[in-house]
Amino acid sequence: MTVAAPVQANSLLAALGGTRQTTPPIWLMRQAGRYLPEYRAIRSKAPSFLDFCYSPAFATEATLQPIRRFGFDAAILFSDILVIPDALGQSVSFDTGEGPRLKPIETSADLKALREAPDWSRLAPVFETVARVRGGLQAETALIGFCGAPWTVASYMIAGRGTPDQAPARLFAYREPDLFAALIDRLVEASVGYLLRQIEAGAEAVQIFDSWSGVLPPAEFERWCLAPVERIVAALRAASPATPIIAFPRGAATQLGKFADLSGLAAIGLDTAVEPRAAAALLPARLALQGNLDPLALMAGGAALDAAVARVLTSFEGRAHIFNLGHGILPETPISHVERLVALVRRPLD
Ligand code: CP3
Repeated sequence: MTVAAPVQANSLLAALGGTRQTTPPIWLMRQAGRYLPEYRAIRSKAPSFLDFCYSPAFATEATLQPIRRFGFDAAILFSDILVIPDALGQSVSFDTGEGPRLKPIETSADLKALREAPDWSRLAPVFETVARVRGGLQAETALIGFCGAPWTVASYMIAGRGTPDQAPARLFAYREPDLFAALIDRLVEASVGYLLRQIEAGAEAVQIFDSWSGVLPPAEFERWCLAPVERIVAALRAASPATPIIAFPRGAATQLGKFADLSGLAAIGLDTAVEPRAAAALLPARLALQGNLDPLALMAGGAALDAAVARVLTSFEGRAHIFNLGHGILPETPISHVERLVALVRRPLD
């Protein structure tokens, strides 16, 4: 199947500016990665995942691979949200097949042992990657920078690994609210500096991944998810008013509207469980909506994929829409299904 060229120069930025397009721009969360044979081939050349992220040559190539193959409307910097704890001096590693492993933060001494601010020299290769990628992209392909939201990053820093419900960080926040607030403050500052450096290097939009915002009750959601993201958005708007910001509060469900009320956001990423029409009714018209095909429908392919794509496209009609998944693409996803998806979005079947 051939993949048609994007119909409008930099249609992602147009959508983020609030312009509804007949053909929505498309990119996929985690679009670079293990489902691509060319990614697996270069990944095996680096000793560790962090070494890979900190190699501008590898990270640039990984960022560009999905653009070459599928012609997405946006590239997303190849890196990880956990480079921030690494640059703050926490021990971070990725064990093959096991996910991230960090030395958990359990006491005030552990927190004190972290740096006040990231070691920016450690992150220099990331900014170098941004500059190289921007240089390697056509004008019609936007470059998205990103960070993890403070709550999501903190939840890995406390637990030291992925957990089903981030219970360790939730318990820590109840038991040690002042310590936890100090950690969140540090992550707010670090995230602002990190995103501004990405913007300076050539990122044209940024996304804040709050993958774990869905596990908190309302009061904790407001304190640990919403307020820190609001501070990041305010600081970015002040320093770089032209850069659109996308928030992805995964699992926020009925608390989604609170994110939408943050002034200065250009778009909200909707997760798989969000009903698009309900979201469209709830969220202010000034926001572009991004999402929200089920990654499992993409993995399944066939008639299920065709139907799910058609449903996403029609459900967002009438809004500025950025086609995406409701969470990251899964490593088992066949390439041919992604090709089919791009063709369906670019040339909707009637
Ligand atoms: O979107 C992209 O293509 C850009 C690259 C990107 C990665 N991670 C590369 C990666 C982005 C945007 C992320 C974000 C990220 N990282 C999040 C937020 C989004 C989400 O999925 O919820 C989170 C929670 C992390 C932390 C993280 N990194 C975990 C939990 C894991 C292990 C699980 C997994 O998918 O392997 C990672 C590792 C990781 N990050 C890989 C990639 C390509 C796989 C590691 C490898 O290739 O060896």
